[in-house]
Amino acid sequence: MPDKHKTLPEKLLIVEDDPGLQKQLKWAFEGFEVIVAADRESAINMLRAEEPAVVTLDLGLPPDPDGTAEGFATMDAILRLKPDTKIIVASGHGEKESALRAIAAGAWDFYQKPVDIDELSLIVRRAFHVRQLEMENASLAAKNDRSHKVLGTIITGAPEMLKVAQMIERVANTNASVMLLGASGTGKELLARGLHNASDRRDKAFVAINCAAIPENLLESELFGHEKGAFTGAVKTTEGKIEQADGGTLFLDEVGDIPLALQVKLLRFIQERVIERVGSRKAIAVDTRIVCATHQNLENMIENNSFREDLYYRLAEIVVKIPALSERSGDASLLARHFQKKFSAEINPDVKGIAPDALAALDAWNWPGNVRELENRIKRAVIMADGKMIGVEDLDLAGVDNDATEFLNLKAAREAADRSAINRAISQTNGNISNAAKLLGISRPTLYDLLKQYKLQQAS
Ligand SMILES: Nc1ncnc2c1ncn2[C@@H]1O[C@H](COP(=O)(O)OP(=O)(O)OP(=O)(O)O)[C@@H](O)[C@H]1O
Ligand SMILES: [Mg+2]
Repeated sequence: MPDKHKTLPEKLLIVEDDPGLQKQLKWAFEGFEVIVAADRESAINMLRAEEPAVVTLDLGLPPDPDGTAEGFATMDAILRLKPDTKIIVASGHGEKESALRAIAAGAWDFYQKPVDIDELSLIVRRAFHVRQLEMENASLAAKNDRSHKVLGTIITGAPEMLKVAQMIERVANTNASVMLLGASGTGKELLARGLHNASDRRDKAFVAINCAAIPENLLESELFGHEKGAFTGAVKTTEGKIEQADGGTLFLDEVGDIPLALQVKLLRFIQERVIERVGSRKAIAVDTRIVCATHQNLENMIENNSFREDLYYRLAEIVVKIPALSERSGDASLLARHFQKKFSAEINPDVKGIAPDALAALDAWNWPGNVRELENRIKRAVIMADGKMIGVEDLDLAGVDNDATEFLNLKAAREAADRSAINRAISQTNGNISNAAKLLGISRPTLYDLLKQYKLQQAS
């Protein structure tokens, strides 16, 4: 992987059949490593051998020096082999159309002949500069990938949660309804958005509605919309959330709080895929993917007749159970570090990290409020901390209880202990594997093996 601090060898390939121009350009780009080719074949050979980042390309090449066919063929071949190459085409006087055509076909920029060296030089330098930035971005993105991000925004290194993310990725592109079950703060909304973004509906709306937060008498019109004059206060015709989610995804949060009468109406929509706004008989077809969430026990609700069984089965084609934070081995310290960095940057840059005793306390806490609680505690700690490190006293965790978790067997308990010790060491050393191994009193290769074994971090 390219190191972001290393600058690119500025290799420039000039594809030009006129020997006089070749010489002139070579001279003009003295500061670069210039390679010259006079036809398609040698250009491609040079591309393979030297991998220039930037290419200037004369469109009129032999055997068609007066046309542009050979130039375009060369450009296609270059882009097919190395799509990130920045190609700058030369267009003859009054041939702006072919320049534009070249841009449409993937050229990066063009210049007019006869060549103005200063102008071309500017274009070439900018191309190298942009290429450099792109490489830096790619290497940053690769680094972030290794920091346990799944579905774009979900941070986890725990197999229990990775399984959930994988499942969501797999079902994203079906139209199946998905029910997310998890305690408060486990990331239900984040996962619903992740699902939407992983699906081919991602360019359309993601519309969330919290059914528990809206008074019963307003919920119907929130969901289905209303016509002007449908009820007192309905001063204009308004689209409901379902309609807004046409083409996209509708996230029904706290679906267990929908009153029975409205459950019937929702069921009818899911079966027929048409809605009627309140105060209207006009059927409007809506195509939306439904994702719902609840922290309630819907099965119990079905038993005592407060949730319709037929609706449940429509909503729960796929049920995803989200583990509590305390069940995600190692995630508490991983997320703590993530939130600390985020809030330090936003609120208090003096705070640089989390002290070992604080990490240990975070790991031992049972997290009844899950990730939301962790986020809030770290935020407060970042504000409160007077030193560079968040200490255990900044976290306000009363009576840390280490024995709350029940383990499957001794092996599982040992693994969980390993995981949390490893995560803590890695957090403490800011991701430096050698130092983390030293802290743990094991060799670096052993630590790499453990990371692999517990899928904690891709050993790179
Ligand atoms: N795995 C995660 N990685 C990063 N941030 C997370 C993760 N899980 C949750 N969060 C963050 O924690 C907060 C709570 O998440 P979210 O709102 O998705 O949870 P929820 O299950 O919908 O909670 P509630 O039941 O309280 O509505 C959000 O700020 C979210 O961004
Ligand atoms: Mg929520």
